[in-house]
Amino acid sequence: MEYFHHEVRDGVLHCENVPVENIARKLGTPTYVYSRRILERHFALLRDAFDQVETLVCYSVKSLPNLAVCQVLREMGAGFDVVSGGELFRALQAGAHPRKIVFAGVGKSAEDIEYALDSRILMFNVESEPELRKIDLLARMKGVRADVALRINPDVDPHTHRHITTGKKETKFGIDLLAAERLARETPSLAGVRLIGVHAHIGSQITETAPYTEALEKTLEFAGRCRDAGNPVEWVNIGGGFGIDYVKDEALPASSYAEVLQPLISRAGYRLAIEPGRFIVGNAGILLTSVLYVKETGDRRFVILDAGMNDLLRPALYGARHAIWPARCDVEMGSAEAEAVCTPADIVGPVCETADCFARDLPFPPVREGDLLAIFSAGAYGMAMASNYNGRPRPAEVLVSGDYFDVIRMRETWDDLIRGERKVARWD
Ligand code: LLP
Repeated sequence: MEYFHHEVRDGVLHCENVPVENIARKLGTPTYVYSRRILERHFALLRDAFDQVETLVCYSVKSLPNLAVCQVLREMGAGFDVVSGGELFRALQAGAHPRKIVFAGVGKSAEDIEYALDSRILMFNVESEPELRKIDLLARMKGVRADVALRINPDVDPHTHRHITTGKKETKFGIDLLAAERLARETPSLAGVRLIGVHAHIGSQITETAPYTEALEKTLEFAGRCRDAGNPVEWVNIGGGFGIDYVKDEALPASSYAEVLQPLISRAGYRLAIEPGRFIVGNAGILLTSVLYVKETGDRRFVILDAGMNDLLRPALYGARHAIWPARCDVEMGSAEAEAVCTPADIVGPVCETADCFARDLPFPPVREGDLLAIFSAGAYGMAMASNYNGRPRPAEVLVSGDYFDVIRMRETWDDLIRGERKVARWD
């Protein structure tokens, strides 16, 4: 039996060959646990699906930035999609080849731009006219020419949560097509930039192909106009956004995206870049957490965990749903036997916010203090968005490879919480 690619043997949840309770015993909870095999497999699925056109898979660092994860993907040939100097630093520390790094983001600072110019990255994904002018200026000052792609806003609805929709015209991302066309007529005369690509990223957790087709058609038409204007456009970057399973089967196989995108790209004769994050790491990660208390009040059963919204923000921020189940359980999640023993529970964290709730009225088996639970599909935007809110050290991170596991980030300590802070001098 498998839950979200993780095997259950005799009722005991495993990450690869390691019973997750062994990890919790050794490191405590909350702890993020990632399966190397799952993330490698998902990277390979995408890479292999896009085998009809020259494709650079740029892993989106923001989804799970841990150095070890970047390193594993780099060893498989991944490039990187970064959105800040900090992410660029991280990718380079993980051994990334600079010519496989693309740099997006609506607010690149001068410092970020200079760092990326010095690092000789593959290209900037430019999100506005003033940013293009800033890159042009800084490159000329350094006596170099920056390779850039224009990120267009194709005004496509990806049918996902509004907070993770980026390709609609009312969002802050990308440049509208008319303005982009005006810029593309000017770029051949700018000495500090070379327009070599067109970029569009329409959103995240997208589980249909039609929005990609629509976005790519617009992108290709625009790329053609850029070429006509005298720009040496070689790359089309269609961004990330490929969806995964959270509580139900909704993910499309990598081949579905490849089947619709590749013919269009190969006909037009471009190189393709994609920027997947969630698809690679989402299902590879679980958040291990222990039950602190079970509180029964009136008709409600609150299962209070030692993981909170500071550790995994998605449910509080987007109303996102993640499957949750005990790491050791006689009945199978979702089965008829489970239904017989489950009663509704609110699965909540310890943070002083009503929104600190992972699931409301979830049919859940009986659990007791100290029981270990797993929150599934937590690899993407889990640890990445963790904070110290409520004075809570961030979790440890573990990477499992077969029979072994490595601690790839130590649990933070109380000392870490005040690191860098200074008390003021006494006034009296
Ligand atoms: N490329 C660009 C320019 C992006 O902004 C993003 C994600 C990606 C690629 C990767 O998208 P993915 O393949 O992972 O869907 N925190 C939210 C998701 C925010 C996505 C931000 N941009 C969540 O937890 O659902």
